[in-house]
Amino acid sequence: MKLADRVSHFSESVIREMTRLAARHGAINLGQGMPDFESPQAIKDAACKAIQDGYNQYAITWGAPALREAIAAKVTKFNGIPCDPDRNVTVCCGATECMMATMLALVDPGDEVVIFQPFYENYGPDAIISGAKPIWVPLRPPHWTFDPDELRRAFSPRTKAIILNTPNNPTGHVFTREELSLVAELCQKYDAFALADEIYEYIIHNDLPHVSIASLPGMLERTVTISGLSKTFSVTGWRLGYCIAPPEVSNGIRKAHDFLTVGAPHPLQMAGVAALNFPDEYYAKLKHDYTRRRDMFLPYLRESGLTVYEPEGAYYVMTDISPLGWDDDTVFVKAMIEQVGVSAVPGSSFYSPKQLGKTMVRFMFAKKDDTLHAAGTRLKELQRMRKVA
Ligand SMILES: Cc1ncc(COP(=O)(O)O)c(C=O)c1O
Repeated sequence: MKLADRVSHFSESVIREMTRLAARHGAINLGQGMPDFESPQAIKDAACKAIQDGYNQYAITWGAPALREAIAAKVTKFNGIPCDPDRNVTVCCGATECMMATMLALVDPGDEVVIFQPFYENYGPDAIISGAKPIWVPLRPPHWTFDPDELRRAFSPRTKAIILNTPNNPTGHVFTREELSLVAELCQKYDAFALADEIYEYIIHNDLPHVSIASLPGMLERTVTISGLSKTFSVTGWRLGYCIAPPEVSNGIRKAHDFLTVGAPHPLQMAGVAALNFPDEYYAKLKHDYTRRRDMFLPYLRESGLTVYEPEGAYYVMTDISPLGWDDDTVFVKAMIEQVGVSAVPGSSFYSPKQLGKTMVRFMFAKKDDTLHAAGTRLKELQRMRKVA
């Protein structure tokens, strides 16, 4: 039996493979991007109530009106993007579906899509399914910025879109207004779209501002802003995301979304309204808690001998294993799971070609304090895996 080319080109997610191995060895899983702490009680209650109140059938395909209204209000206020709930908002099953539906709506096979790398691993399959030809532009450590000339060279009349993820997974880079201005200039010069994945918009350390590229001059008409509830409200299992797009593009996204999933879970959409109405203090605490987790966990990594690239946002940290004398990320992570009892993601998952990430390993720190301390204590054992003095 021969599977279709499109899926045979997907490499099985290394994250899943490491998760299985971690479970087998009782390792603390700092690989997969989901919290081990509870979601806010108020939204769990709101979800139960919505089920009891009878929100159990399909919602309007592109999102329950109350949720779209709450999203539009939030996006207008927080992101500085004028937003109409009826014309600009599409609710999907997570930011994951948002990006897929957006690419299906905008990209024809053979169109070029500029993607910064290291990249969130779903963008690879998104490109394969939509037929996009990825044009990779490196973000380089330690600050994970790009070379403006490299970005200029990546754009051409064949460019349909650029995928931009800020705050960035896996690097933690928060794109500055200046960086985004160059992206905006190139999008306008080449009549290309910005597909902005802003799922970590509230998780920023160091008091840096979150800048939405759609709020820059000339970008409203050529940006799809993608976000969702997974990370901000610690509900990765709820599968709620949304796209903010110009009306014509929204229509295309809604068509793709209709045939991909019909709609996101109706009762959870109603609970999403409660979440989006949380007061400002909720977001201040979220940010404060993540910065505290980062500042608690990174010293353990530094003490273990890895090179640590301090993230400005999101809840991941990229490290380099070369100082310990290792040069193969996957072999290293497997050994770390078996000998140290901590799991992470081999960096090559975030690069194309994979070889470029061979000495990188990504850890995530969306965990309870106890979990981070326990993992940190285990990581001291990395010294025993050291291959060089
Ligand atoms: C950059 C980025 N985008 C999207 C997602 C997925 O978001 P969702 O749960 O809303 O599908 C993730 C999850 O790890 C992510 O890191």
